Amino acid sequence: MDIWLDTTNVKTIQKAVRVGILSGVTTNPSLLAHNKKDVEKTLEDLLHHQEGPVTVQVVADDTHEMLQQGQMLYSFSNRIIVKVPITKNGLEAIHLLVRQGIPTMATVVFHPRQALMAALAGANYVAPYISRIEKMGKDPWEMLNSMTTIFQHYRLQTKILGASLSSIEQVVKCAEIGIYGVTLKDEIFEKMIEDNPATLEGVHQFSEDWKKASSSLFSS
Ligand code: G3P
Repeated sequence: MDIWLDTTNVKTIQKAVRVGILSGVTTNPSLLAHNKKDVEKTLEDLLHHQEGPVTVQVVADDTHEMLQQGQMLYSFSNRIIVKVPITKNGLEAIHLLVRQGIPTMATVVFHPRQALMAALAGANYVAPYISRIEKMGKDPWEMLNSMTTIFQHYRLQTKILGASLSSIEQVVKCAEIGIYGVTLKDEIFEKMIEDNPATLEGVHQFSEDWKKASSSLFSS
């Protein structure tokens, strides 16, 4: 499973790089706006502090404007993946961008039919919004299983990146289903790497026992 971070926080990105698990960074207009720093500077930082792609969302409603914004983003860096909301116009924009060799991620995905259309239009990634699907009273796992089955049936190469995740249980569930990856907010990433009390207790016991061992193995 690939792990991306859904953040503009460089410290979290650096931590994930140190652990060696980071595949890329996703952003959205809200994250970039809340960051308060200049957007261009933020994007430079996100590209500088890790080697993977960075997704940046277009903010137009019109297909032609989405295309133009996508082209601008890709000219800013060819490591930018253009995030396009899966509207009717967005679908068309995805197809136009893909035909120009610009990578895309269909976002704000709530249903397998949207994932299917995005994949057929040529999107490289689709980002289903797990928690938001759940909040609507729908079953996100049924949706993910359906997307996975459909993509397998037709050998579609589009990758499913689970987004809008709010617990480690949801991340584990995504891994069980076998989707390509997940993008995690800072707090969920921190929970994924946090110490389990049982592990700490086990390690403490080993330390106590080691004190009784007769060894110069670790002495310098
Ligand atoms: O990047 C999109 C995703 O982070 C949305 O998450 O928590 O606003 O549903 P959320």
